[in-house]
Amino acid sequence: MSARIGDNSAAQRNKEPIFDALVEHLAHARDVLEVGAGDATHARYAVERLPHCVWQSSEAPGHYRRLVAALADRSEQNLPRPLALDVRAAWPAGPYDAVFGANVAHIMDWTAVEALFSGAARVLRPAGRLCLYGPFLRRGKPPETGNAAFDAALRDRDPAMGLREIEALDALGEPLCLSRVADIAMPSDNRLLIWQKAADR
Ligand SMILES: C[S@@+](CC[C@H](N)C(=O)[O-])C[C@H]1O[C@@H](n2cnc3c(N)ncnc32)[C@H](O)[C@@H]1O
Repeated sequence: MSARIGDNSAAQRNKEPIFDALVEHLAHARDVLEVGAGDATHARYAVERLPHCVWQSSEAPGHYRRLVAALADRSEQNLPRPLALDVRAAWPAGPYDAVFGANVAHIMDWTAVEALFSGAARVLRPAGRLCLYGPFLRRGKPPETGNAAFDAALRDRDPAMGLREIEALDALGEPLCLSRVADIAMPSDNRLLIWQKAADR
């Protein structure tokens, strides 16, 4: 189980299917903010697959130095120096065309998930997109075997962590004018969920 918490090999495996989908969904994006960017595996790959985007990675202050070190050899204009960002604290002004996070919603406590949605809604341009990759639950549906075990192991480790229900995330987005526009199946029972901000906000 613990191998799925911040495990770089997981990011190496999932980056290709994630970006195979994002090339379509972020075809018109330019400014992207990544939250909880970990060791920059997705950020490094993002600028290969989405060279039209400026990929602004960020991490919570406790893990920020690791992210900076992981990008120390990179100086491209579309891969700027990471930002220290705890989603529960002050966000950069933006605006961004997309906010991306991989395997973050089940690690953050619910207050942070709420802050992730409200922060994203604030910094996204009209029609901007919030894209979250990871394992999720569906209300009223039994989880896949691997996800059930992972959820139980996370909650055992910290009751504030755990897989999130897609419906609960949709409910967070609704008052913020973030409507889900995609739910894409990914390998190993993961999903890529995309919410779009209203075009007139
Ligand atoms: C499982 S790791 C995923 C890392 C990377 N995105 C990946 O896929 O390899 C979860 C990440 O969420 C970040 N995180 C947890 N709480 C956070 C918060 N309140 N604000 C910003 N990032 C947070 C952690 O620092 C950690 O890097």
